Amino acid sequence: MNNKWILATDIDNTLTGNRAALDRLREGLEHDRTRYDCFLILSTGRRLDEVLTGFEGEGIPVPDAIISQVGTEIYLPPFRAGMAPLAEWDVMLRQQYDRAVAERFFQEIEGLELQPDRYNTRLKASCWLDQTPDPEAAANEIEDRVRQSEHGDAYQVVWSSGRDLDIIPAAAGKGKAIHFLKDHLGLEPDTVIVAGDSGNDRSMFEAFERGIIVANAKPELRQLAESERPGIYFAQRSYAAGVHEGLHHFGLVASRPAPV
Ligand code: GLC
Ligand code: MG
Repeated sequence: MNNKWILATDIDNTLTGNRAALDRLREGLEHDRTRYDCFLILSTGRRLDEVLTGFEGEGIPVPDAIISQVGTEIYLPPFRAGMAPLAEWDVMLRQQYDRAVAERFFQEIEGLELQPDRYNTRLKASCWLDQTPDPEAAANEIEDRVRQSEHGDAYQVVWSSGRDLDIIPAAAGKGKAIHFLKDHLGLEPDTVIVAGDSGNDRSMFEAFERGIIVANAKPELRQLAESERPGIYFAQRSYAAGVHEGLHHFGLVASRPAPV
Protein backbone atom coordinates (compact mmCIF):
# COMPACT_ATOMS: atom_id res chain seq x y z
CA MET A 1 0.00 0.00 0.00
CA ASN A 2 1.21 3.44 -0.87
CA ASN A 3 1.87 5.61 2.15
CA LYS A 4 4.71 7.68 3.52
CA TRP A 5 3.60 8.37 7.04
CA ILE A 6 0.95 7.34 9.48
CA LEU A 7 -0.92 9.71 11.75
CA ALA A 8 -2.68 7.81 14.53
CA THR A 9 -4.70 10.23 16.59
CA ASP A 10 -7.11 10.08 19.48
CA ILE A 11 -10.45 11.85 19.02
CA ASP A 12 -11.83 13.28 22.27
CA ASN A 13 -10.00 16.34 23.56
CA THR A 14 -7.28 15.73 20.99
CA LEU A 15 -9.18 16.41 17.76
CA THR A 16 -12.32 17.70 19.45
CA GLY A 17 -12.56 20.69 21.81
CA ASN A 18 -12.14 23.52 19.31
CA ARG A 19 -14.15 23.14 16.14
CA ALA A 20 -12.48 25.96 14.21
CA ALA A 21 -9.05 24.46 14.93
CA LEU A 22 -10.27 21.02 13.82
CA ASP A 23 -11.65 22.45 10.57
CA ARG A 24 -8.31 24.07 9.93
CA LEU A 25 -6.40 20.86 10.66
CA ARG A 26 -8.77 18.75 8.53
CA GLU A 27 -8.40 21.10 5.59
CA GLY A 28 -4.64 21.16 6.04
CA LEU A 29 -4.52 17.37 6.09
CA GLU A 30 -6.74 16.95 3.05
CA HIS A 31 -4.58 19.37 1.18
CA ASP A 32 -1.32 17.75 2.27
CA ARG A 33 -2.42 14.14 2.28
CA THR A 34 -2.20 13.65 -1.43
CA ARG A 35 1.16 15.34 -1.41
CA TYR A 36 2.64 13.50 1.55
CA ASP A 37 0.62 10.29 1.44
CA CYS A 38 -0.65 10.16 4.97
CA PHE A 39 -2.45 7.06 6.24
CA LEU A 40 -4.85 8.37 8.88
CA ILE A 41 -5.91 6.22 11.83
CA LEU A 42 -8.45 7.35 14.41
CA SER A 43 -7.56 5.62 17.65
CA THR A 44 -10.21 6.15 20.27
CA GLY A 45 -12.10 5.01 23.35
CA ARG A 46 -15.35 5.68 21.50
CA ARG A 47 -17.63 3.06 20.00
CA LEU A 48 -17.71 2.78 16.20
CA ASP A 49 -21.15 4.43 15.90
CA GLU A 50 -19.92 7.41 17.96
CA VAL A 51 -17.04 7.82 15.54
CA LEU A 52 -19.24 7.62 12.44
CA THR A 53 -21.72 10.25 13.65
CA GLY A 54 -18.74 12.49 14.40
CA PHE A 55 -17.75 12.76 10.72
CA GLU A 56 -20.68 15.02 9.95
CA GLY A 57 -21.62 16.17 13.41
CA GLU A 58 -18.20 17.14 14.74
CA GLY A 59 -16.04 17.60 11.67
CA ILE A 60 -13.90 14.55 12.47
CA PRO A 61 -11.89 13.62 9.36
CA VAL A 62 -12.82 10.36 7.63
CA PRO A 63 -9.81 8.09 8.26
CA ASP A 64 -8.24 5.08 6.52
CA ALA A 65 -8.81 2.92 9.60
CA ILE A 66 -10.59 3.14 12.95
CA ILE A 67 -9.31 1.65 16.20
CA SER A 68 -12.16 1.90 18.69
CA GLN A 69 -13.12 0.88 22.25
CA VAL A 70 -9.62 1.59 23.60
CA GLY A 71 -7.84 -0.59 21.05
CA THR A 72 -10.05 -3.65 21.31
CA GLU A 73 -11.74 -3.24 17.90
CA ILE A 74 -10.37 -2.37 14.46
CA TYR A 75 -12.44 -1.30 11.43
CA LEU A 76 -11.44 -0.83 7.81
CA PRO A 77 -13.41 0.99 5.09
CA PRO A 78 -16.08 1.05 3.85
CA PHE A 79 -17.30 2.10 7.30
CA ARG A 80 -20.93 1.59 8.20
CA ALA A 81 -22.86 1.36 11.44
CA GLY A 82 -23.19 -2.17 12.75
CA MET A 83 -20.32 -3.60 10.72
CA ALA A 84 -18.22 -6.36 12.25
CA PRO A 85 -14.75 -5.52 13.57
CA LEU A 86 -11.68 -6.93 11.87
CA ALA A 87 -11.93 -10.66 12.56
CA GLU A 88 -8.22 -11.42 12.88
CA TRP A 89 -7.78 -8.95 15.74
CA ASP A 90 -11.05 -9.91 17.39
CA VAL A 91 -10.39 -13.65 17.34
CA MET A 92 -6.86 -13.25 18.67
CA LEU A 93 -8.02 -11.09 21.59
CA ARG A 94 -10.98 -13.30 22.45
CA GLN A 95 -8.69 -16.22 23.05
CA GLN A 96 -7.02 -14.30 25.83
CA TYR A 97 -9.87 -12.58 27.62
CA ASP A 98 -12.85 -13.50 29.73
CA ARG A 99 -14.86 -10.49 30.82
CA ALA A 100 -16.26 -12.32 33.83
CA VAL A 101 -12.67 -12.57 35.08
CA ALA A 102 -12.09 -8.89 34.32
CA GLU A 103 -15.21 -7.80 36.20
CA ARG A 104 -14.09 -9.68 39.28
CA PHE A 105 -11.31 -7.13 39.75
CA PHE A 106 -14.02 -4.47 40.28
CA GLN A 107 -15.59 -6.23 43.24
CA GLU A 108 -16.06 -4.37 46.51
CA ILE A 109 -14.48 -1.10 45.50
CA GLU A 110 -16.56 1.48 47.34
CA GLY A 111 -18.29 3.93 45.02
CA LEU A 112 -17.21 2.16 41.80
CA GLU A 113 -19.80 2.46 39.05
CA LEU A 114 -19.90 0.15 36.07
CA GLN A 115 -20.16 2.12 32.78
CA PRO A 116 -23.35 1.58 30.72
CA ASP A 117 -23.67 -1.74 28.87
CA ARG A 118 -22.84 -0.21 25.51
CA TYR A 119 -19.31 0.53 26.76
CA ASN A 120 -18.90 -2.90 28.29
CA THR A 121 -18.08 -5.36 25.54
CA ARG A 122 -16.76 -8.88 25.17
CA LEU A 123 -13.24 -7.42 25.28
CA LYS A 124 -13.52 -4.40 27.56
CA ALA A 125 -14.76 -4.06 31.13
CA SER A 126 -15.15 -0.39 32.00
CA CYS A 127 -16.09 1.49 35.14
CA TRP A 128 -16.01 5.01 36.59
CA LEU A 129 -14.11 5.74 39.77
CA ASP A 130 -14.87 9.44 40.27
CA GLN A 131 -17.41 8.69 43.00
CA THR A 132 -14.96 6.58 45.00
CA PRO A 133 -13.43 8.25 48.09
CA ASP A 134 -9.99 8.32 46.42
CA PRO A 135 -10.05 7.56 42.66
CA GLU A 136 -6.26 7.26 42.31
CA ALA A 137 -6.09 4.82 45.21
CA ALA A 138 -8.98 2.79 43.80
CA ALA A 139 -7.27 2.62 40.40
CA ASN A 140 -4.04 1.49 42.05
CA GLU A 141 -5.90 -1.14 44.01
CA ILE A 142 -7.45 -2.58 40.83
CA GLU A 143 -4.09 -2.47 39.08
CA ASP A 144 -2.46 -4.33 41.99
CA ARG A 145 -5.19 -6.95 42.00
CA VAL A 146 -4.68 -7.64 38.31
CA ARG A 147 -0.89 -7.80 38.61
CA GLN A 148 -0.98 -10.09 41.61
CA SER A 149 -3.55 -12.44 40.12
CA GLU A 150 -2.84 -15.47 37.99
CA HIS A 151 -4.20 -13.41 35.06
CA GLY A 152 -1.62 -10.68 35.43
CA ASP A 153 -0.08 -11.41 32.03
CA ALA A 154 -3.31 -11.55 30.06
CA TYR A 155 -5.14 -8.43 31.33
CA GLN A 156 -4.20 -4.77 31.44
CA VAL A 157 -5.62 -1.78 33.24
CA VAL A 158 -6.02 1.52 31.41
CA TRP A 159 -6.60 4.52 33.68
CA SER A 160 -7.69 7.84 32.18
CA SER A 161 -8.78 11.31 33.21
CA GLY A 162 -9.15 10.56 36.93
CA ARG A 163 -12.42 8.80 36.14
CA ASP A 164 -12.36 6.06 33.51
CA LEU A 165 -10.87 2.65 34.16
CA ASP A 166 -10.85 -0.08 31.52
CA ILE A 167 -9.65 -3.65 31.79
CA ILE A 168 -8.76 -4.98 28.36
CA PRO A 169 -6.64 -7.84 27.03
CA ALA A 170 -2.92 -7.32 27.57
CA ALA A 171 -2.50 -7.86 23.82
CA ALA A 172 -4.94 -4.99 23.04
CA GLY A 173 -4.71 -1.22 23.45
CA LYS A 174 -4.25 1.59 20.99
CA GLY A 175 -0.49 1.14 20.53
CA LYS A 176 -0.60 -2.59 19.86
CA ALA A 177 -3.59 -2.17 17.55
CA ILE A 178 -1.62 0.27 15.39
CA HIS A 179 1.26 -2.21 15.11
CA PHE A 180 -1.19 -4.96 14.19
CA LEU A 181 -2.77 -2.78 11.50
CA LYS A 182 0.62 -1.89 10.04
CA ASP A 183 1.51 -5.56 9.69
CA HIS A 184 -1.95 -6.59 8.55
CA LEU A 185 -2.01 -4.03 5.74
CA GLY A 186 1.69 -4.24 4.95
CA LEU A 187 2.18 -0.53 5.60
CA GLU A 188 5.80 0.60 5.49
CA PRO A 189 5.75 4.24 6.48
CA ASP A 190 8.88 6.30 7.03
CA THR A 191 7.38 7.53 10.23
CA VAL A 192 4.45 7.04 12.57
CA ILE A 193 3.15 10.01 14.53
CA VAL A 194 0.72 9.46 17.38
CA ALA A 195 -1.34 12.16 19.10
CA GLY A 196 -3.30 12.17 22.31
CA ASP A 197 -4.37 13.81 25.56
CA SER A 198 -5.08 11.18 28.22
CA GLY A 199 -4.22 7.85 29.82
CA ASN A 200 -5.72 5.62 27.18
CA ASP A 201 -3.30 7.22 24.69
CA ARG A 202 -0.23 6.20 26.70
CA SER A 203 0.18 2.89 24.91
CA MET A 204 0.59 4.74 21.59
CA PHE A 205 3.47 6.75 23.01
CA GLU A 206 5.00 3.59 24.43
CA ALA A 207 4.71 1.81 21.08
CA PHE A 208 6.08 4.61 18.88
CA GLU A 209 8.87 7.06 19.23
CA ARG A 210 7.27 10.14 17.80
CA GLY A 211 4.17 11.75 19.13
CA ILE A 212 2.29 14.93 19.88
CA ILE A 213 0.85 15.72 23.29
CA VAL A 214 -1.68 18.54 23.14
CA ALA A 215 -1.42 21.36 25.69
CA ASN A 216 -4.70 20.40 27.36
CA ALA A 217 -3.40 16.87 28.09
CA LYS A 218 -4.15 15.20 31.41
CA PRO A 219 -1.37 14.78 34.01
CA GLU A 220 -1.04 11.05 33.37
CA LEU A 221 0.10 11.78 29.82
CA ARG A 222 2.08 14.92 30.62
CA GLN A 223 4.32 12.82 32.82
CA LEU A 224 5.46 11.13 29.63
CA ALA A 225 6.30 14.43 28.03
CA GLU A 226 8.40 15.34 31.03
CA SER A 227 10.38 12.11 30.82
CA GLU A 228 13.42 11.85 28.54
CA ARG A 229 11.65 11.34 25.24
CA PRO A 230 13.07 13.60 22.56
CA GLY A 231 10.60 12.26 19.98
CA ILE A 232 7.63 13.60 21.90
CA TYR A 233 6.47 17.06 20.95
CA PHE A 234 4.66 18.92 23.68
CA ALA A 235 2.41 21.38 21.86
CA GLN A 236 1.74 24.87 23.14
CA ARG A 237 -1.72 24.76 21.66
CA SER A 238 -4.69 22.74 22.81
CA TYR A 239 -6.92 20.25 20.96
CA ALA A 240 -6.66 20.07 17.15
CA ALA A 241 -4.50 23.19 17.03
CA GLY A 242 -1.95 21.28 19.12
CA VAL A 243 -1.99 18.36 16.69
CA HIS A 244 -1.61 20.78 13.81
CA GLU A 245 1.29 22.52 15.54
CA GLY A 246 3.00 19.17 16.11
CA LEU A 247 2.57 18.01 12.52
CA HIS A 248 4.04 21.27 11.34
CA HIS A 249 6.91 20.84 13.80
CA PHE A 250 7.66 17.39 12.35
CA GLY A 251 7.53 18.87 8.85
CA LEU A 252 4.54 16.79 7.83
CA VAL A 253 2.04 19.49 6.96
CA ALA A 254 2.83 22.75 5.27
CA SER A 255 -0.05 24.71 6.76
CA ARG A 256 0.15 26.22 10.22
CA PRO A 257 -2.31 26.22 13.09
CA ALA A 258 -3.92 29.46 14.23
CA PRO A 259 -1.65 31.57 16.49
CA VAL A 260 -1.69 30.63 20.20
C1 GLC B 1 -14.19 6.32 26.24
C2 GLC B 1 -14.98 5.03 26.42
C3 GLC B 1 -14.97 4.59 27.86
C4 GLC B 1 -13.53 4.51 28.38
C5 GLC B 1 -12.82 5.84 28.14
C6 GLC B 1 -11.37 5.81 28.56
O1 GLC B 1 -14.82 7.37 26.89
O2 GLC B 1 -16.33 5.23 26.02
O3 GLC B 1 -15.57 3.33 27.98
O4 GLC B 1 -13.52 4.20 29.74
O5 GLC B 1 -12.88 6.16 26.76
O6 GLC B 1 -10.63 4.81 27.93
MG1 MG C 1 -8.86 11.77 24.50
